[in-house]
Amino acid sequence: MQITVEAKPLASVESEALVSYVFDDSDGPQGRAAELDQFTGGLLARLNKTGELTGKALETTLIHAPANAKAARLLLVGAGKREQLNSAMLRKVAGVALRYLKARSVHNLVFVLREGGATEENAQAVVEGFLTADFETDKYKTDKKKDKFVDNAAIAGFTDGEKAAVEKGIARGGIIGEAQNFARDLVNEPSNQLTPKILADKAEAMAKEAGLAVEVLDEKKIAQLKMGALLSVAQGSIEPPRMIVITYTPANAKAGAPVVGLIGKAVTFDTGGISIKPADGMEKMKYDMAGGATMIGVMRAVAALKPSVKVICVVPATENMPGGRAQKPGDIQTAMSGKTIEVLNTDAEGRLILADAVHYAKQLGATHLVDAATLTGAIVVALANVNVGVFGSDQSWTDRLLASAKEAGEKMWQLPMDDEYREFIKGSFADIQNIGSGKGGGSITGAWFIREFAGDTPWIHLDIAGTAWNDDAKPWLAKGPTGVSLRTLVKLVTSL
Ligand code: BES
Ligand code: ZN
Ligand code: ZN
Repeated sequence: MQITVEAKPLASVESEALVSYVFDDSDGPQGRAAELDQFTGGLLARLNKTGELTGKALETTLIHAPANAKAARLLLVGAGKREQLNSAMLRKVAGVALRYLKARSVHNLVFVLREGGATEENAQAVVEGFLTADFETDKYKTDKKKDKFVDNAAIAGFTDGEKAAVEKGIARGGIIGEAQNFARDLVNEPSNQLTPKILADKAEAMAKEAGLAVEVLDEKKIAQLKMGALLSVAQGSIEPPRMIVITYTPANAKAGAPVVGLIGKAVTFDTGGISIKPADGMEKMKYDMAGGATMIGVMRAVAALKPSVKVICVVPATENMPGGRAQKPGDIQTAMSGKTIEVLNTDAEGRLILADAVHYAKQLGATHLVDAATLTGAIVVALANVNVGVFGSDQSWTDRLLASAKEAGEKMWQLPMDDEYREFIKGSFADIQNIGSGKGGGSITGAWFIREFAGDTPWIHLDIAGTAWNDDAKPWLAKGPTGVSLRTLVKLVTSL
């Protein structure tokens, strides 16, 4: 999809659809909506009076052949309360419009920003909304809907003075939206198409194309480095593990600047291992590599946006299988850090592979860590599929992430990490055990386990088990992988 600016007066824009948004108030069309109303000879005002055009969030109203405009259609999307409008709502509005029109075989559209709305931030959000809404999970369907595509989208509704900001937003939104879809594509791959090796190959190809340094550690190198926690998970599978390391080094690195370590869980399939999962719903465990995919996607955006801090991405990739060599409950493993771990449940494997990845990221020089992982079912109990669970060891680092999440329009919620929870994973026969002995708090004990390996280095853990996959399509997003937390992390890294 090509995304451009449209500077012509709205009445003379030749497009299959003009799109804009209206608010949930009874004031009738104002500002740029009044201009659009003239195209319809006052129809919008009438529909607003009769209650057919309410401005209720994400409600759609399609008008065909507006009399006084060159466009073939006028689509209005509700944006809710005028005073609450923000870029997060605009992102959804743009996504809803794109999916609505695409489903009706409309191939090009012009999105009209409302008066005062032509900012870089808004243009970026609209483009991110377009691109993420355009993503489909039909890669393996042989009867693709050939006529359902939008190949041209433009943004209109800015003054001469605002044009440069809109263009900047379009460029930035393009980079971020495409990176998010890149991550979603990886997550969407079934495990027979995306083994740890294939994931590493794809990450390597991306890094090379983007001009990033990349190193992939194979099973021999992993063993040499004594990454015993990662190996313990991998030993149950015939597919060898990989440790993927991608590095971005800024041209203008300042001495003493933070070095960000981004660590992402990439279990390309999680059967649970010997502590095997029930069959019902197990197919979804192909998305247990979403944390890794997110971090690889972040690096793709980082390469283009060129922040001023160094970023090291470390992705441990493995399957979790119950093969003849699989680890068994009660087995004691030694992590790369030297800590011993009693594996009480082989299904708590994410924290094991993250233990070695976090340790390795520190060894490579990371001073500030963030990990993302589909770590626990318990986070779904706590936050459903609405918020990402956030855990942190350093409040000022965590606050930066939460602020970035707000700006990026991703819902995240911090959970507590009191010392009491740490007691839950004190080991009986080894230094620590991989599941809690207390009742409840499963996401917190999971987080504490990883934190043991972060030590004093400021660290954040994002539990995306509930949010990385949409079980149902949304009007602005296809069913399946969401790419959640990518935008927040890009924001965080570029704000340092
Ligand atoms: N990959 C799962 C977590 C998960 C659950 C992701 C649901 C996505 C959706 C993880 O490896 C796991 O199995 N965790 C266990 C931990 C338990 C054994 C302490 C869980 O949550 O049940
Ligand atoms: Zn598991
Ligand atoms: Zn898992």
